[in-house]
Amino acid sequence: MANLFNPSFVFLLSLFLAHQATATSHHHHDLKSLHFSLYQQETINKTGYIVVNGVAGPPVGQTTTPFGTVFVFRDHLTLRANASSKVVGISEGTSITSALDGLQSISVAKITLKMKGMVGSLSILGSVHNTRASKLPVVGGTEDFMFVQGYIVSSPVDLQGIDVTYKVEFHLYWPPYASFAKF
Ligand SMILES: *[C@@H]1O[C@H](CO)[C@@H](O)[C@H](O)[C@H]1NC(C)=O
Ligand SMILES: *[C@@H]1O[C@H](CO)[C@@H](O)[C@H](O)[C@H]1NC(C)=O
Repeated sequence: MANLFNPSFVFLLSLFLAHQATATSHHHHDLKSLHFSLYQQETINKTGYIVVNGVAGPPVGQTTTPFGTVFVFRDHLTLRANASSKVVGISEGTSITSALDGLQSISVAKITLKMKGMVGSLSILGSVHNTRASKLPVVGGTEDFMFVQGYIVSSPVDLQGIDVTYKVEFHLYWPPYASFAKF
């Protein structure tokens, strides 16, 4: 039988306990990252509006807005490209045309999600190109997305007419400390 006060036994025991603690914490938060795509459905003058007219550059067109245009939106996020597919979230925010050729804007959005058994919101801040895929950093989150980091990729699917669809890919990563602060 091992001598309980033998220093090497104590050392082995502490190694064992340390390993147990690590294994437990890994087990508790095996949710380290999440990757999925949704579709943002926007209807001009219904879910998205120009609220301040721009001052320079090309006129308002299918893909351009004058420099300084302030656009505000509150769009549904659906599971599939079809606008009548299941709504699992909303994206609300604003974009301000910041390129003189009218093709790029600074976008700020709060994305609220209720899907995959998770509820909460993500905050997005970055630059969006009107005709190309844009990568925007996730700067934070709430509830089940508290402390989440990562990025989204927003790309136009259909820019014809007043109903506009964007594909939004989510790449979310939870830092190790996220599990220590549940709200
Ligand atoms: C949206 O409304 C504005 C202001 O009434 C109008 O000038 C514009 O043509 C409308 N856009 C579309 C695509 O209907
Ligand atoms: C979208 O879904 C609706 C309802 O399921 C269906 O009637 C319609 O044909 C679909 N549209 C396209 C473009 O697939």
